[in-house]
Amino acid sequence: MTHNLLKGKRGIIFGALNEESIAWKVAVKAVEEGASITLSNTAMALRMGTLDQLSKQLNAPVIAADATSVEDLVKVFAESVQLLGGKIDFVLHSIGMSPNVRKHRTYDDLDYNYLQKTLDISAISFHKMLQVAKKQDAIAEYGSVVALTYVAAQRTFFGYNDMADAKSMLESIARSFGYIYGREKNVRINTISQSPTPTTAGKGIKDMDNLMDFANKMSPLGNADAEECANYCVMMFSDFTRKVTMQNLYHDGGFSSMGMSLRAMNQYAKDLAPYEDENGKIIYG
Ligand SMILES: NC(=O)c1ccc[n+]([C@@H]2O[C@H](COP(=O)([O-])OP(=O)(O)OC[C@H]3O[C@@H](n4cnc5c(N)ncnc54)[C@H](O)[C@@H]3O)[C@@H](O)[C@H]2O)c1
Repeated sequence: MTHNLLKGKRGIIFGALNEESIAWKVAVKAVEEGASITLSNTAMALRMGTLDQLSKQLNAPVIAADATSVEDLVKVFAESVQLLGGKIDFVLHSIGMSPNVRKHRTYDDLDYNYLQKTLDISAISFHKMLQVAKKQDAIAEYGSVVALTYVAAQRTFFGYNDMADAKSMLESIARSFGYIYGREKNVRINTISQSPTPTTAGKGIKDMDNLMDFANKMSPLGNADAEECANYCVMMFSDFTRKVTMQNLYHDGGFSSMGMSLRAMNQYAKDLAPYEDENGKIIYG
């Protein structure tokens, strides 16, 4: 069911790689809700993924860009304004990558060149996007910019590695730029902190299946999936949230407010229950 929440609005969606991507679902929902959009990803992602298919399905032009390149971003915003016929009403930053995670470097053995890349791709690219957009005055009054983040920015999660630092920085940029862009142009900037989700980036996190199961057991509403995240993004792009800015908004079924749940406790008790080993000896958890 559609509600025309984004009727007549223009948007740019960064980070759709394949059908599993959160950005992919956001692009589909945004168009269903009446928006016209452009899509952007790296040249390599265009080769490896299936963005072409989405572009055809949504009649949405693709503009190749590395989000760490200011020059590329200048092109994305200028061309989007031209192609869509006016200023941009919403932007999704759905970009994350850590070479340290990819190369299995642990947090106490980081490669610092990789760390720079993690921060540039996953956080500073957000600042670059905002700075480019503001200099071009490419975003309309009360336009809405959303970046996707994860609760590892606030709490420590085994295996999330230097992405935790990147997400902390991303959320900080949303506040710092949100103040300036809000004050000068009424543009709002928020981050949505999403449940663990089985996407290409998500699956790169260590023991993702266990993390997802744990989060699901801890959350009173269960994990939020990519489609539900897309609904939340659309609401944040819509005129119903015109005074929401500089916020980190949890979209996680309640996980971030929990300490211990009954379901998690039951699972833990099961794991600790005494059991018999192969020699008949009783082992206490
Ligand atoms: N999957 C999860 O569990 C989860 C949870 C919370 C937040 N997030 C965040 O959601 C966002 C989207 O990730 P996803 O889970 O949909 O995975 P995904 O792998 O589908 O998307 C990540 C995207 O980042 C793009 N990217 C990487 N380097 C880039 C660069 N230099 N320039 C431009 N784009 C680049 C990739 O091409 C890809 O499209 C990320 O910020 C991620 O951290 C994911």
